[in-house]
Amino acid sequence: MNTLFGLPPVWMAPMAGEAASGALVAAVSAGGGFGQLGAAYLAPARIAEIAADIRTRTDRPFGINLFCPQPWLRDDVALDTYLARLAGWHAELGLPAPARPERYEEDFDAQLAATVAARPAIISFVMGDPGVARVAALKAQGFTVVGTATQVAEGRLLQASGVDAVVAQGYEAGGHRGGFLGTPEGALIGTMALVPLLVDALDIPVIAAGGIADARGVAAAQALGASAVTAGTAFLLVDECPLSPAYRTALLAAQDTDSTLTRAFSGRLARGVANRVTRELEGTPLPDFPQPNAASRAMRQAAAKAGRADFISLWAGQALPLSRSPGSAAQLVAALTQGWRA
Ligand SMILES: Cc1cc2nc3c(=O)[nH]c(=O)nc-3n(C[C@H](O)[C@H](O)[C@H](O)COP(=O)(O)O)c2cc1C
Repeated sequence: MNTLFGLPPVWMAPMAGEAASGALVAAVSAGGGFGQLGAAYLAPARIAEIAADIRTRTDRPFGINLFCPQPWLRDDVALDTYLARLAGWHAELGLPAPARPERYEEDFDAQLAATVAARPAIISFVMGDPGVARVAALKAQGFTVVGTATQVAEGRLLQASGVDAVVAQGYEAGGHRGGFLGTPEGALIGTMALVPLLVDALDIPVIAAGGIADARGVAAAQALGASAVTAGTAFLLVDECPLSPAYRTALLAAQDTDSTLTRAFSGRLARGVANRVTRELEGTPLPDFPQPNAASRAMRQAAAKAGRADFISLWAGQALPLSRSPGSAAQLVAALTQGWRA
């Protein structure tokens, strides 16, 4: 099969957080797909550990994904207002009152150095343009570099920076919106429109993401001109994904209309299953990402342990109900690959 970068056509989307697991990434790659590690929230040493773990499990290629560093304004007043909203939920979970985080995000340059040292087949970026110099340096070291776009102008910028391919992330996609130009609400373009728009606008390959959960979605993305497909949500329920039971149960129970776009957990627009936190914070102004993300971490982790889905960021995409019982990662890869015409 003549495939993009010599990789399988079905990729697992990088997913930071609970799904950032070496076992899952390895199971996808070993199972005939291309597994990617969402490393955005991982300390550099952890990136090295997980990459080594993947290599003990499979010799197949895998990718690593990072969030581009983005400007944000520290706002302790807005943060304190947010912490006051969290306080009641902390009390319900038996946690001490929330405090301002000591640290908001990992050091990007150190994460990138760890990623380079891990030698993945692909380094991908989201939420920004890695820029000409960084892309050139990575390509000179033999890496394939992939960017993420939610609108045509972002795709053009990424292409001008020299990336090898662009992921077209449609509105249906679970998790954070990966765009970086204008407001996120200004780029809510569905996969069905975004993929051909980017295919027409760019001279580099486009990888479809958002709402692809079965062979029909794969076939549709290929028909729209995608050179490969990436699915995130569908992999959340495979056997090897270490999702907390509360998260898993909430995903299994969710209906199509439960999907919502929210800033409530992180300060940045993301798609997940609506719950108490998303409903009660709807319309509330919040400090910039990553301040709420760091501030709500203790609550989210405690809720996952306590089985309280009301307080977990239940990231998932609109196609969630299509993938209730995918089986193993290899079984899902095989089912998706059936939609791809060699
Ligand atoms: C739980 C979760 C975490 C995600 N984390 C990341 C991430 O760290 N980096 C990234 O580029 N995209 C992330 N995404 C978005 C995916 O890469 C991808 O665009 C999306 O899952 C595709 O849509 P789908 O969920 O409908 O398959 C995440 C998605 C989910 C569901």
